Formats: sequence, C-alpha cells, structure tokens
Amino acid sequence: MRKLVVILPTYNEEKNILRLIEGIFANEKKLPNWEIHVIVVDSNSPDQTQSIVLALIEKYPKLHLLRTKKEGLGKAYVQGFTSALERLNPYLIFEMDADMSHNPKEIPHFVHKIEQGADFVIGSRYMKGGSIPKNWPIQRKIYSTAANLYVRFAFMKLRITDWTSGYRAIKSWLIKNAISQVKDYSGYVFQVALLDFAVKNKSHIEEVPIQFVDRIHGKSKINSFQYIIQTLFYVLFHSSFIKYAMVGLIGFTIDFGISYIGIEKLALQVWIATLISTEISIISNFFLNNFWSFSHKKLDHSMKSYVPNFLKFNLVSSGSIVIQTVGVQLLTMFFGRKFWYIYKVCIIAFIIIPYSYILYNKFIWKDR
Ligand code: GDD
Ligand code: MN
Repeated sequence: MRKLVVILPTYNEEKNILRLIEGIFANEKKLPNWEIHVIVVDSNSPDQTQSIVLALIEKYPKLHLLRTKKEGLGKAYVQGFTSALERLNPYLIFEMDADMSHNPKEIPHFVHKIEQGADFVIGSRYMKGGSIPKNWPIQRKIYSTAANLYVRFAFMKLRITDWTSGYRAIKSWLIKNAISQVKDYSGYVFQVALLDFAVKNKSHIEEVPIQFVDRIHGKSKINSFQYIIQTLFYVLFHSSFIKYAMVGLIGFTIDFGISYIGIEKLALQVWIATLISTEISIISNFFLNNFWSFSHKKLDHSMKSYVPNFLKFNLVSSGSIVIQTVGVQLLTMFFGRKFWYIYKVCIIAFIIIPYSYILYNKFIWKDR
C-alpha cells in the first residue's frame, strides 16, 4: 500500500477543521490502495483548532498534529513536508487549504492522475470545468485572473493554467529535492516557487479542475500587498523569458554603442563597424543567455558543446537580421516610409522575440 499524506496548514480554523478532516478520511473507501494520513500544521492558533485536532486523533490514528511558530504559509508547508518525509515515508503529498475552500471529495481525481504517471497535479480554478467563486466582486476576479496570466506568460508555460493554487498532489521525491531550494519563501509566494522548481526539473505536471469556494467561517490570512510584490519579484528574477528579453535589450545597447564609436569616433567604414558591433553583441548575448537567462540548462563546459551551439546561435541571430530587414522593407513599400520605426518595433516584439526564444529553447538550451 502506498502512503498519501495531506498537509493542512492552519491558523484559527476551529470552525472548519473537523468537517475537513472527516471529509478527507471519507476517501478511504474510494482509495483502497492508499493509506491516508493527515498532518495538521498549526501555527499556535489561539482558538480551539489544536484541541479539536487532538480530540479527533482518538478517532483517527492516522491524524497527526504538528505545532509551529507563526512564520507564514510557506514555512508551515516546509515544516509539514519535512515531518511527513521523516516520520511517514510517503509516496504522495497533498497541499490543501484548511478552510473548506478546497473540496476533499476531489482528492481521488488527483490520485487518479498520479496513478496515470503524473508527478505533480494542480487543482486548477482556471481550466475548463474549474471556477473561482461567483460571488467574488469583479475587481477581485480581475485581480486574481490577471495575476495568474502574468505568471503564466512570464514563465512562458501556457499549458499550466493555475500557478498559485494551493490544492496540489506532489510525489514525495520531488518535494524532497525541492525543499532546500524553496524553504526561504515563507509567504504565499512559496506556491509559485515550488511549482517553478517542478517545471525546471522536468517533472510531469498535470491539472484537474476544481471549484474554489469562498470560506464561510473565519477569515483569510493572505497579505495581498506583500503577496503581489513578492510574486512580482519572484517571477522577475526567475523567468527565463524576462531575462532573455533583458539580454536582448543589453545586446541592442552594445550593438548600437559600438557602431556609434566605430562610425562616429574612429571613422571606420560603416559595414566594418556594423559587422564588428553585431558580432560582439551576438557573443555577449550568447554568454549572458547561457549563464543567466537559461542558467538552469546551461551548456556543458566543453568545446564540443560550445562551438556548434555558438554557430547555431549565430545562425538564429542572422535569421533575425534577415526577418527584420525584409519585414521593414516590405512594410515601408506597402505603407510608406513615414512610420518605419513603428514597423521595426512591431516586428521585434511580435516576430523576433518569440522566434528567437522558441528556437533557442528548441535547438540550443534544450529542455532536459
Ligand atoms: N500554519 C499556518 N501558518 N497556516 C496558515 C498560515 C500560517 O502562517 N497562513 C495561512 N494559513 C492557512 C490557513 O489557515 C488556511 O488553511 C490556508 O493556510 C490558506 O489560507 P487562507 O488565508 O484561507 O488563504 P486564501 O484563501 O486567502 O488564499 C488562497 O489563494 C492563494 C492564492 O491563489 C489559498 O488557496 C492559497 O493556498 C493560495 O495560494
Ligand atoms: Mn482561504
């Protein structure tokens, strides 16, 4: 029998915890091949949460209580994961809110995906069949949807529809590998960091739709302002795509600067200065991308890996030059020369940036 451990972080959930724990253990009949455990990680709630859990342990011997200091949702999860790995040797670990926003009846859907080979299953509010509460005010709906779209596009992983969901099933080996990397994200941003780790480590990620309902009892502990700022920065510092775009901007500056010096100050021939500046910016782009934007899949330290990949990089870059030259030329032929710079910016934004990003990922910094 494989072990499944549900980690429930709680802070003042006295009105929710009983019903949720009963709901989780009610799955035992539906999951006969799994031994279900629950660890409540309570950050010293001043209400009755702990005494309710302690009383329930009499009835459910596979229920456990872990008392911690109040240091945020991320810290509570890391403590729960560590305790599960040390004491229970689980195969599968669940993350779940303890306020009944997540329906425990949906647990078997996650398990089913795991049995089909997934390593990480997300309960998604934004995929077909999933939902956010109907009664949320419009601004909260917009804010929640926009936040998810931002993370989705910045990470260029469009297949994943819910990055911030707190209802997940994750194989324990993945959590074991992730802990040292995500343990410092103490707040809600922890969820994004953990999923980012799973994506970068090539785990098999699936989603199941969930209906997220508003809590009826107690109140939310989220600090929205802190959460937005931390997520914004996390994504900025961890998104290959944003870093890649910044490298492109640096390359452009280098190219332009060297051309300017060559042509204006050193009086070189225009084509010579352009050739030198273009190649220097290609070289700098190559190294910045290798050691920064795509550092999680950087090339092996060998000539056999650098030389062909650098040549491919030059080829992709030459392709960008051709696309830009032909594109700007064609557009000015049809629409006149007046707005040439607008055409150039559009071609860079809508063709060159995605074109190079896709080719780099496909042929140079390949997914492993
Ligand atoms: N132990 C512990 N310590 N538990 C905590 C802490 C803490 O510092 N902070 C929150 N929790 C518990 C709550 O008691 C609840 O069971 C769960 O974590 C989720 O907290 P809520 O306060 O209900 O979060 P929310 O409903 O506002 O946030 C939802 O959306 C987020 C972003 O999409 C949740 O679904 C989050 O999981 C999700 O990341
Ligand atoms: Mn909640």
